[in-house]
Order: sequence, then C-alpha cells, then structure tokens
Amino acid sequence: MTTLGTPLSPHATKVMLLGAGELGKEVLIALQRLGVETIAVDRYEHAPGHQVAHHARTITMSDPAQLKALIEAEKPDLVVPEIEAIATPMLQELEAAGVVKVVPTARAARLTMDREGIRRLAAETLALPTSPYQFCDSLAELQAAIDAGIGYPCIVKPVMSSSGKGQSKIEGPADVQKAWDYAMAGGRVSHGRVIVEGFIAFDYEITLLTVRARAADGSIQTHFCDPIGHVQVSGDYVESWQPMPMPPQALQRSREIAKAVTDNLGQGLQGEPAGLGLFGVELFVQGEQVWFSEVSPRPHDTGLVTLITQWQSEFELHARAILGLPVDASLRNPGASAVIYGGMEAQGIVFDGVDEALALPGTDLRLFGKPESFSKRRMGVALARGADTDQARAVAKQAAARVKPRRA
Ligand SMILES: Nc1ncnc2c1ncn2[C@@H]1O[C@H](COP(=O)(O)OP(=O)(O)O)[C@@H](O)[C@H]1O
Ligand SMILES: [Mg+2]
Repeated sequence: MTTLGTPLSPHATKVMLLGAGELGKEVLIALQRLGVETIAVDRYEHAPGHQVAHHARTITMSDPAQLKALIEAEKPDLVVPEIEAIATPMLQELEAAGVVKVVPTARAARLTMDREGIRRLAAETLALPTSPYQFCDSLAELQAAIDAGIGYPCIVKPVMSSSGKGQSKIEGPADVQKAWDYAMAGGRVSHGRVIVEGFIAFDYEITLLTVRARAADGSIQTHFCDPIGHVQVSGDYVESWQPMPMPPQALQRSREIAKAVTDNLGQGLQGEPAGLGLFGVELFVQGEQVWFSEVSPRPHDTGLVTLITQWQSEFELHARAILGLPVDASLRNPGASAVIYGGMEAQGIVFDGVDEALALPGTDLRLFGKPESFSKRRMGVALARGADTDQARAVAKQAAARVKPRRA
C-alpha cells in the first residue's frame, strides 16, 4: 500500500529532483498534483523546475561532497536523477547505506551516465544487437579501430556527453582528426575517451517509453507506450510524433529489447526486481531488424509529445511509477511536438506570437522559463494533436514557427 503525506508537514512525502530543466519541471508538476513535497536541484538559479517546486537548491551535482551534504540535510524519501552529470558513485554509496532510495536505482543512474557502462551492458552482458563499436583513448586508437573493422562511415562520441555534444560523423579518412578534436572539445569530462560506432543506415529511429510500475499484487510490471518517431539534427531532437507505425515483428522485437534492458537496470542490490519508473529506450529500425542505441532511466526529451497524446504523459507516468502507484500508458490521440529554439544569446527574452500559435486548432505550448537563451538552446516546445501524425507534425511545426523569441 502506498501512503502519501501532506507537504510541508512532518509527514510529507519528499522527493528530490537532481536536475530541474524542462523535463524535471514537468515531473515536479506531476508530483505537486499528488501532494508530494518537492525539492528541485540544479546548477544555476531560477532553473525551470526551481520555479514550480516547494524548495529550490543550487549546487554542483557532480561534486560528491555537495551532493551528500544536500541529501543528508533535506532527507528526501526518493532521489530522482533527471540529468546524467551527477556524482553517481556517491548515490550508490548513500543507497547502499540505506540513507536514500534512488530512482530507478543508483546503479542504473551510474551505468547510463557513461556510454561505456550502458553499451557494454547491452551488447556484452545482454547480447542485444547494437552498432559495432570500440572505445578509444587517442587519435591513433581511433584510426586503428576504424581500420580494424568499424569502417566508414562511422560516428564518434565522447563517452560522457549528451544532446549530440562533441559527436560527429566520419565519412572517410580525411575526417578522422577533425572528429577526434571535436570530441575532445565537446565531452563533459575531459578524460579523452570516445566511442566509435559503425553507422547504422536505419529506416527510422524510435523512442520506446517503457514503464516499470507496481501492480495491485505488489509485483513490478512493465508497460509500453506507443512508439515515438523523431528527427534528430546534429544529435539533438527537433521534432517527434506518436504513434510511429511499425511492422508487428519490429514492434515485438523493440519491446523485447526494451524489456531486457529495463529489467536489468531495475535490479536491486541483490539482483531482485526493485527499480521503478519510466525509461526512454532509443532504438534504430530497418525493416524488421532492430538495434538498441541507448537508454535514459528517466523521461526522454522526444517524449514531450506525450503531453498531448497520452492520458498520462511520460512525466505523470514517471511520478506515479516511482511512488508505487498504478499507471495507464495508453495513447489518447495521435500528435506531434516541435522544438522552439532561442535563436540568440540573451537574458530574459520575450516571446511574440504565442496567441497566433495557440490559435491553430488542437495546439498547446510549453515555454520553459529558462533565464538565459542561447542560439541552439531549447526554450519551449509546440504540441499538436491531429487525426494522424502527418497532420499533427505540420501543425506543430507551424505553431513553433509562429512563436518568435526576441530581446526584451
Ligand atoms: N551508430 C549510429 N548510426 C546511425 N546514427 C546514429 C548512430 N549513433 C547515433 N546516431 C544518431 O545520432 C543521434 C544521437 O546519438 P545518441 O547516441 O543518442 O547521443 P545522445 O546521447 O547525445 O542522444 C541518434 O538519435 C541518431 O539519430
Ligand atoms: Mg540519444
């Protein structure tokens, strides 16, 4: 049985979000609706999630001492990592000592913060199909890996990076040095390790949102949302839609892969089923063939579309699942999302045309409230429902284009 408390009282149910960007903000809103006391943590002040939580804290989450001190001071019932750049070995220590419960598990947060941890788990431990890959610590090792079998074209990524940072495609020998230099400049931690992957010429890629939630009998059950199609530009999502039509065989295979990965990441300290929550499983599809790419043990940016397509968005599903509540992952109607970029470097920008965007039938909008805009920073998202995803995509893009950020 799940019992929830009253916020700001001695019996509050307290949840701490590590990362308070636009995805964390929506999880916080979902938790707020259930009367959960929320603590939003980010590296800068007035982050989107800070603006909707009971408590806003600003620390360096990759610093183990700062992270430990904050968790010990706030004593949350649950710690929910919402970004990758966190001192996850410290979370593992605190979880093992029984100080706190990490969503879905501290081990999952640690394995997925680094491309090497999750790739070796998927390809070597679970024997799931992935692109061919090698890890390299120098330009010479990179060239050797390509020559020894990865071949051209291939993709180089820093092992610690997200949103396409430091990632580039190598078409031939002339690009290798440039790709190495770019990866060295773009990684989160400059320890100079990259993954090189053979290029998969997929027909399309999907995010399969997969939820581990408690059933009435206390067991953990796996639920799948309808597949989400998306378009990535330079490793960053610009457009997504749901449902993505797929041959039944490919969908079946995708679910098997997602189940294998999330079952493993959901294991507790003794290997028992323990971890709860939503995962974004990224897959490449060609005909009936499916490759595992990567997984987020948390809501996924392409899943913003579920704010307009599902009865329970990916954020509500995550909030419910982590609290031990039942979930409904079913689709309500087809829909699409289109990203709104800042387009400039400035503080406190304003948005013209919000009325014109929302005048398009079946649309909705999220403006994240980020204090500072960069040219390629995601500042908002347009959402559209439609009779089918083609129509919804056209309307979402149109709505996004009508929102015009500018200097105040
Ligand atoms: N091996 C690959 N073959 C083809 N495309 C790839 C490959 N790896 C990555 N991509 C493309 O780049 C995008 C971003 O790569 P990903 O590994 O998901 O990085 P990130 O962690 O930054 O999201 C993918 O969604 C896909 O479109
Ligand atoms: Mg990705």
